[in-house]
Amino acid sequence: MEKAIFLETERLIIKQTTLEDLDNLCVLQSDNEVMKYVGKGVRTPAEVKHWLEQAFLHHQRHGFSFGSLFEKESGNFIGQGGMMYFDYDDTQPDIEVGYRLSKNYWNKGYATELSKASIAWGFKNLNVNKLTAFINPENEKSRRVLDKVGMNYIGKIKCFNTEVERYEIDRNNI
Ligand SMILES: CC(C)(COP(=O)(O)OP(=O)(O)OC[C@H]1O[C@@H](n2cnc3c(N)ncnc32)[C@H](O)[C@@H]1OP(=O)(O)O)[C@@H](O)C(=O)NCCC(=O)NCCS
Repeated sequence: MEKAIFLETERLIIKQTTLEDLDNLCVLQSDNEVMKYVGKGVRTPAEVKHWLEQAFLHHQRHGFSFGSLFEKESGNFIGQGGMMYFDYDDTQPDIEVGYRLSKNYWNKGYATELSKASIAWGFKNLNVNKLTAFINPENEKSRRVLDKVGMNYIGKIKCFNTEVERYEIDRNNI
């Protein structure tokens, strides 16, 4: 099945996540290091499938989502990234930028490249004045990415009983 492309950067392609990605997503989300600061940590195949379905439907509804990420040079699946309404809940206003890469692809600047492109796409195509990101306070790698793309630290908030840090970028500040 030809998948919808959400976004292309110099080195990456984000495609709509489909069931074809399930095996790759299960491997990614069963890695303790990758999932250390994501939600409750590693996910079972049933949980992965649940979130895959949320991402797929979100793309159908809104034309963007947390998609499957491929490296152009190799064609390899390398993780997930993009944007979605916070917790896939489009009854609230926050749209968040997110990324989750397989370890072999860390420290190549991919999350930064992806986030910059997502932010640019968001402000061009969505009627929003700000985009958000949420991180576990201990996730220094992710914080570094947010700093590099110009996201501003807003403060700590409680999210599903866990403390997270909220970042925002304003349309007028890019
Ligand atoms: C967070 C994550 C997406 C970063 O992806 P990445 O492609 O490696 O990020 P980039 O290469 O664009 O940037 C990494 C930067 O962090 C820096 N970095 C790496 N480890 C670091 C650390 N422990 N503390 C601070 N900075 C660190 C790198 O030096 C690099 O900065 P530089 O470009 O100035 O040298 C990746 O580590 C990941 O997928 N982690 C697991 C999932 C996750 O936590 N997702 C975020 C949830 S909010």
